[in-house]
Amino acid sequence: MADHGSSSLRVLVLHGPNLNLLGERDQALYGTVTLAEIEERLHRLGVDKGAAIESRQSNSEGELVSWVQEVAFGAPEQRFSGLVINPGAYSHTSLALLDAVAAVVEHGTPVVEAHLSRVHARDSERRRLLTARAASGVISGLGPISYELALDAVILLARQRNLER
Ligand code: DQA
Repeated sequence: MADHGSSSLRVLVLHGPNLNLLGERDQALYGTVTLAEIEERLHRLGVDKGAAIESRQSNSEGELVSWVQEVAFGAPEQRFSGLVINPGAYSHTSLALLDAVAAVVEHGTPVVEAHLSRVHARDSERRRLLTARAASGVISGLGPISYELALDAVILLARQRNLER
């Protein structure tokens, strides 16, 4: 394991609606890897990179908005150094999530959006990305690797900004 000294990052990973069904849902598009397997990979990557990873999934837009806010505006000991988010279908519909992501990014905390599928190459509704307008960056189309690259990017950005907690 790499030595990261005493500095530690806390990264929140959020999964939006229907992502609890990964592995069963539309395998041709999303593959057979389950959410638990993706989370396991991210936790291992976090250990390698000296970052504590917390993962949550919700089908509820309001709950996701509250969790995004918590990243930068929660009680000081609850805040995170960065956020990886796959908002699922809310990526294309939710102004409330866009506003929450924008507030966190304006606060100086990195947010990277991850998509398993190539959303930019799908139907016109899915090509419209609302939350991505505010995100620090977007990684799309690489299956579970999208999450891993998004986590790597958040960790790099948070270290550049000295956001260790
Ligand atoms: C998704 C793409 C969305 O359009 C869809 O609603 C999802 C998954 C992806 O990871 O490719 O639920 O966010």
